[in-house]
Amino acid sequence: MEKHRVETLISQEAVEAKIKELGAIISKEYEGKQIHLVCVLRGGAFFMCELAKHITVPCSLDFMSVSSYGGDTKSSGVVKIVKDLDDSIKDKDVLVVEDIIDSGRTLSYLMEMLRDRKPASLKLCTLLDKPDRRVVDVKVDHVCFEIPDEFVVGYGLDYDQRYRNLPYIGVVKFD
Ligand code: IMP
Ligand code: MG
Repeated sequence: MEKHRVETLISQEAVEAKIKELGAIISKEYEGKQIHLVCVLRGGAFFMCELAKHITVPCSLDFMSVSSYGGDTKSSGVVKIVKDLDDSIKDKDVLVVEDIIDSGRTLSYLMEMLRDRKPASLKLCTLLDKPDRRVVDVKVDHVCFEIPDEFVVGYGLDYDQRYRNLPYIGVVKFD
């Protein structure tokens, strides 16, 4: 692993306050309904757990894991399901929970695939968004933080599988 350091970009306090705020907004949005949260592993796990704690309407959870098809996702945008959802999403109010939207390729593919399964509704929330990097248009319903085009870690995000457990968002610096 290349020599690097991690600088704090968004503190734990700021991240958690924002997620709490989003939990309240989502709870209002889904009043009288039941939310089915779909976490995109592995990065989305920390965000989903924290968000779920602040959702006050009935809520269920499921997980899926995707990876690139034959190597370079970044160029193909075709994703392979490594672990599919355990439960059907048909007629459910589904909210997909993702760590970060970068090019948008993964999520645009995933959302289309989930839409084909006929949920009652399908929305997307993300902890982080790098709008400058977008290649494929994807409709994001809730964004906690828009960030500049830098490589970030923590709160579920990794650098070579490290740093997912950092309780804050950091920027990886190579200088
Ligand atoms: P995309 O939107 O299809 O380009 O890919 C998004 C995925 O790339 C995310 O789910 C992350 O796994 C990964 N990713 C993108 N930017 C970062 C970053 O800054 N740090 C860690 N992982 C990232
Ligand atoms: Mg991810």
